[in-house]
Amino acid sequence: MALPCFVANFKMNKTVAETLSYLTLYRQRLSERPQQQNVEVILAPPYTALFSAGHKIKEGSLPIGLAAQNLYFEADGAYTGEVSSNMLCEAGCQYVIIGHSERRKYFGENDAIIAAKVFAAVEAGLTPILCVGESAKERQEGKTLEVVQRQVKEGFSKMAGDMSLSHSIIAYEPVWAIGTGNTPIPSEVEQVHQEIARHLKENGVPRILYGGSVNEANVAAFMKEPHVDGMLVGGASLSAETFLNIVQVGARHAAPLP
Ligand code: PGA
Repeated sequence: MALPCFVANFKMNKTVAETLSYLTLYRQRLSERPQQQNVEVILAPPYTALFSAGHKIKEGSLPIGLAAQNLYFEADGAYTGEVSSNMLCEAGCQYVIIGHSERRKYFGENDAIIAAKVFAAVEAGLTPILCVGESAKERQEGKTLEVVQRQVKEGFSKMAGDMSLSHSIIAYEPVWAIGTGNTPIPSEVEQVHQEIARHLKENGVPRILYGGSVNEANVAAFMKEPHVDGMLVGGASLSAETFLNIVQVGARHAAPLP
């Protein structure tokens, strides 16, 4: 078990003003109920709010990292509507979510595009949060491990042989669990995480988060599993109070550091 890590993925929610109010409330609640355990907390608001959120985090010395929800793999050029890794660094990001199932599903991102994005992120000094996970159909067909292994292998396929993966983050998010209220049982998640860790051990094992309908009630059970290093939270992260509860309950129940 590495340092527990909790990511709030706002998706296409919250304006700049709403993101800043969220941070104000988060800071207030945290000062009333300080964090007892060492954790890494990461906020992923939409592009438009990144710069202001980064500024507020820095100004208030908030213990929060900043992630973008996507990037483009080219450094600059005629790519209307896209945002590059150096622009994210300038906006204050240290992390970037890549290959979320909504990007794969609605924006046609495939393993090759995702691999190029992971490489671009690492090259710019950003920590990639690579999302992988099987669909309901793939799960029914018993292909969960096969699909997840392929996505992980392909996602890191552009990384040079000597690049360690230990600074990367993987989020295992079964597609059927995202936004549905359905989740795998924690021991199933543990099994998938164990398999990912086993396959990557030569190159340094990234932290492996679980995502998909995480809430205050189920976070403890997931965090108790030894290969679950944290949570990627969507819907339940939209309330600063709920997200802080998830972080604090989750951190309390995390398997001990080795
Ligand atoms: P959810 O989303 O927590 O709303 O299921 C998780 C995600 O898509 O990252």
